[in-house]
Amino acid sequence: MAPARRLPDDFLWGASTSAHQIEGNNTNSDWWLFEHMDTPYIKEPSGDACDSYHRWPEDMDLLAELGFTDYRFSIEWARIEPAPGEFSQAAIAHYRRMVEGAHERGLRPLVTLHHFTAPRWFLERGGWAAAGSDELFARYLTAAAPVYATDVAYACTINEPNMLASMATLYKAHLSDGPPPTFGLTTPDGATTDALVRAHRRAVETVKSLAPHVRCGWSVANQVYQPLPGAEDVAAAFRHPREDVFLEAARDDDWLGVQSYTRTRIGPDGPLPVPPDAEHTLMGWEFYPRALGEALRHSAAVAPGVPLIVTENGIATADDTRRIQYTSEALDSLISTMDDGIDVRGYFHWSALDNYEWGRYAPTFGLIAVARETFTRTPKPSAAWLGAMGRRRILTLLEE
Ligand code: BGC
Repeated sequence: MAPARRLPDDFLWGASTSAHQIEGNNTNSDWWLFEHMDTPYIKEPSGDACDSYHRWPEDMDLLAELGFTDYRFSIEWARIEPAPGEFSQAAIAHYRRMVEGAHERGLRPLVTLHHFTAPRWFLERGGWAAAGSDELFARYLTAAAPVYATDVAYACTINEPNMLASMATLYKAHLSDGPPPTFGLTTPDGATTDALVRAHRRAVETVKSLAPHVRCGWSVANQVYQPLPGAEDVAAAFRHPREDVFLEAARDDDWLGVQSYTRTRIGPDGPLPVPPDAEHTLMGWEFYPRALGEALRHSAAVAPGVPLIVTENGIATADDTRRIQYTSEALDSLISTMDDGIDVRGYFHWSALDNYEWGRYAPTFGLIAVARETFTRTPKPSAAWLGAMGRRRILTLLEE
């Protein structure tokens, strides 16, 4: 065992989920529509997912019992506003009960207001790039205010706007029957990027005007671009539209969400494939836990002085001992950034549950296994290991 480290008392210690990936039957969303189109990205539709729309109390019970003190979950625009300007009070009350239910169990909610999915009607009118999308987002957030107006300290406006803008590129390619670009490293659609930055600013203003105490930020996917010697400029040019533009937009925020899983090495001609001898995760990504520390350092360099929260970090694996090893090394790299004075306020593991990984169920990121037919939840050893650190506020990491 490496030496134990005490976490600050107010350090956030939790797990993350997103509504579409766990709730099930999010039939009014743009992703549901996409899942039923003929596209190579979709191996299977989300269907019932983890049935968490009904089973959220059980999910929260488990997280609290395991020792977590915080829970990041998202609310679903498509349920709250099923038709333009038509709001479901029942859906709003549902998410409000989740906020209250979290507190009843000793979990502090970090609420994501948009995690990849929007109402179907929003896509049909042109998605984020269409004029007025920021206004529509603000209108939804105004209607949803009862969810977050009290008892929510942190709100994430938009999850991974950089991935969302890349999805817009993919969607355009799908509509034009063009060759499918590679997901993840696809160039974000420029008009969508601009619209998301506008929507984020507008969302922060809206939330703060209705609930001034809520600390607002957004979470950016960090790919940890590592240039080979001589490829520094290529890496910087590659990274700017995919990452830095979104980090720069967070410079005035209350906090910035860091989401990291692996690294991407860049050669003179761009991204390099994962070396065949490297350990691959179920996503095909390189097992590279120290990406987290590097992602934190890069985020702190681009948005200096903005407190950082790790809102996602984890590994898709069927071998839970590798999850523990990965997470231990990732946390070790996080601690070293704090030792160097970087202001990190919390850690949320991705994911609480094995869930719908945007097109398929095979890559299992969960601390808790979910049986696909019965929805029975079974915490894995990693859940007990990680949760216990939250209860004691002491990090006990493995030797490498
Ligand atoms: C997203 C999650 C996703 C995870 C693993 C992030 O891109 O926010 O929704 O499941 O990474 O791919």
